[in-house]
Amino acid sequence: MNTPAFKPLRGTLTVSGDKSISHRAVMLGSLATGTTEIEGFLPGEDCLSTIRCFRSMGVQIEQNGSSVKVFGRGLRELTAPAGILDCGNSGTTTRLLSGVLAAQHFNSVLSGDASIQRRPMKRIMIPLRAMGADITSISGNDCAPLSVHGKQLYGIHFNSPIASAQVKSAVLLAGLYASGQTTVTEPALSRDHTERMLRSFGAKVLTGNFEDRPSVTVTETQNLYGTEISVPGDISSAAFFLVGASIVPGSEVVLRNVGINPTRDGVISALRAMGAKIEVLEVRNEDSEPAADLLVRYAPLHGTEIGGALIPRLIDELPVLAAAAAVAEGRTMIRDAAELKVKESNRIRTMAEGLSRLGAQVEETEDGLIIDGG
Ligand code: S3P
Repeated sequence: MNTPAFKPLRGTLTVSGDKSISHRAVMLGSLATGTTEIEGFLPGEDCLSTIRCFRSMGVQIEQNGSSVKVFGRGLRELTAPAGILDCGNSGTTTRLLSGVLAAQHFNSVLSGDASIQRRPMKRIMIPLRAMGADITSISGNDCAPLSVHGKQLYGIHFNSPIASAQVKSAVLLAGLYASGQTTVTEPALSRDHTERMLRSFGAKVLTGNFEDRPSVTVTETQNLYGTEISVPGDISSAAFFLVGASIVPGSEVVLRNVGINPTRDGVISALRAMGAKIEVLEVRNEDSEPAADLLVRYAPLHGTEIGGALIPRLIDELPVLAAAAAVAEGRTMIRDAAELKVKESNRIRTMAEGLSRLGAQVEETEDGLIIDGG
């Protein structure tokens, strides 16, 4: 069989704004006093769901493409929504908003599309209830729609069984309203955009270790203060070009202004471990959300092992890494990634089926994939 001729990928591009940071910028901007100006916002469906929810709680938000202006109402001045808060397909909106709603002076119901109504919400209901929240799954299956009766909350120390930024962030946002201090400890550090952005809005956030596990503490807060936010490019979008340029001979691509927060840059580490040639140029914003230009050149890839604390740093990039593994020389083992089964789809099964259909050697395991590439 002839090897098909692929044209190399060459050029410079800017990927769209980071989704996780875009959500949080709208949320904290809404809860702050004063205006928040966001540049580089991702105007995708999920982040637009977050805007829609806060608008229906009385927040004025002007959105023009990737520029957004939020006229914050303050932590305790949201108004009761007229109907169900529609989170669309967005797990981040559903889970983070639950933490905020648990402490409001009104009752609310939040829901979303069919996929959202199948995703596990017990993971946020358990810690929020421990803080005094009244939150229930209306269908009784621990999924949305969720009914939330606003209550006075109390600070807790939550020892999370999973490394999930959505769970951590729901508890931290509730913690802004809870008496005393609220601490979340997690088995491995998940993305820390909430912690970083809370600091930019003036909240007191302490990070450290508790019994050798990463932990973060917030204190009851009276005010957040509106600010300017520049959202870097989404490394989850950049990942497709990092892999594409790495596997097509002759490629050389520069990706401008990509977020390289160390809790998100696992795809660069994993690809480098596979032999990829990726250079990080011109790092900026190191104290808020670090970003850099990434230069990637074609290089022959080989198999690797991906597991442990690296997993939360590349959880959304595992599907494209699996594709890279399918064309790399030798075996790649992905472990400790059972969380992939409860994303918008079961991403372990989807990748195993899709890559097998393309002729790759892929075995699905309990918590990952074994891929024999080449
Ligand atoms: C996100 C956290 C991750 C990630 C999701 C976005 C966030 O989910 O997969 O795409 O913005 O906090 P988990 O918290 O479920 O790991």
